[in-house]
Amino acid sequence: MSDDVLIVSGGSPLKGEVRVRGAKNLVSKAMVATVLGESPSRMYDVPRIRDVEIVRGLLELHGVKVTNGDLDGELRFDPSNVERAGIDEINVHAGSSRIPILLCGPLLHRLGHAFIPDLGGCHIGPRPIDYHLEALRRFGAVVDKTPEGLHLSAPDGLHGIKYELNYPSVGATEQILLTAVRAEGVTELSNAAVEPEIIDLICILQKMGAIIKVHTNRVIEIEGVPRLGGFSHRPIPDRIEAASWASAALATRGDITVKGARQADMTTYLNVFRSIGGEFEIDDNPVDGGIRFWHPGGDLRPVALETDVHPGFMTDWQQPLVVALTQANGLSVVHETVYEKRFGYTSALNQMGAHIQVFQDCLGGTPCRFGRMGFRHSAVIAGPAKLHATDLIIPDLRAGFSHLIAALAAEGTSRVHGVDLINRGYEDFEAKLAGLGATVSR
Ligand code: EPU
Repeated sequence: MSDDVLIVSGGSPLKGEVRVRGAKNLVSKAMVATVLGESPSRMYDVPRIRDVEIVRGLLELHGVKVTNGDLDGELRFDPSNVERAGIDEINVHAGSSRIPILLCGPLLHRLGHAFIPDLGGCHIGPRPIDYHLEALRRFGAVVDKTPEGLHLSAPDGLHGIKYELNYPSVGATEQILLTAVRAEGVTELSNAAVEPEIIDLICILQKMGAIIKVHTNRVIEIEGVPRLGGFSHRPIPDRIEAASWASAALATRGDITVKGARQADMTTYLNVFRSIGGEFEIDDNPVDGGIRFWHPGGDLRPVALETDVHPGFMTDWQQPLVVALTQANGLSVVHETVYEKRFGYTSALNQMGAHIQVFQDCLGGTPCRFGRMGFRHSAVIAGPAKLHATDLIIPDLRAGFSHLIAALAAEGTSRVHGVDLINRGYEDFEAKLAGLGATVSR
């Protein structure tokens, strides 16, 4: 039997407490930011997840000394000897993560050259990098696409730009921030993403010496500075993981306290959680606070929602919530407007007894950029459905967690294949499940 299979005996409510640490989608970018500094940085509360290991490996290849600090979850970074890495060594990381693309600006500033391997990450659509490359070229980078990866140089240095994104892409906004902070002159970015993880990255860059103004209407202005120092930072908590556990509580009729979860980052999720019929209680003690999420008994109510950029409902909250919606009494509609192909996982839920139909139309009233393009990006979920155990293959990180929740909610024993993928973004998830009373084994 492969080690990458989890045997899940479902049908019992998950009850207990879990803790979330720094957000995966901030920590990995903050690690990249350390390369921009000329003195050491320090980060606390870093989760032990695969994405952090990948970025650590990439930084070490480029001469950044990364060490574990005295505290659990503390990492220290010394970027004083940043150097070029061998293409073969970098290519070991090809296909494993999307973070390497963010090293372009920092490496160009530090070394005048960058090599970026083929990107990886979750297969949830084509995930182009056209905005990244267009912006980098406008900054003055020369980008040479080769079969082995991207070679970038900046023969005339990098200079501030005026740039408007076609869509408020998280990654492209981060790319522009990480490049503009040390580019000569001022950069004005319009239609920027303003997710809490981006604001936290801006806080980090400010600690390093950057000058960044976040204006209204998604405009960010960055005044380039010649030199940046290090930072010491405690990242924002992982609001995707927190919501994943909250949805698991609803789907299994359970009661989960997520220590470390913070209301301010999750208000949109909490509104939906409440309208479905879930209950929550917030403890805002800064040291040991969190949010308790529970199913109060009785029927859950259906909901109509669409995913969107911040402050909308996050696309990464969608998949675990859909599992809970299979248990709501009536028809729910979920319109995915961030990624064009993020409902592939629903066919496995249907095999388990769910009734989910996916449509090409923009259901729910608001047209999005995927309308009339042939992508099945709206889902109608009819509940309540009795889920039964099955064999599942995990397709990507968030869909994988939703499969796991479905297996936990279903009667009987499921075999979930490919669970190691979940380690990319959920720290110690098997231990956490066991702590919540789940019966899982390898
Ligand atoms: N897009 C383009 N061109 C580009 C860049 C993006 O067309 O050059 C499009 C994408 O195809 C997509 C949309 O813009 O349709 C949004 O993509 P975005 O750039 O915002 O996403 P990302 O930066 O690649 C991050 C998170 C994702 C999260 C999205 C949206 C990281 C490492 N990843 O991706 O998280 O879903 O923002 O919030 O931060 C996850 O954690 O599982 C995950 C997929």
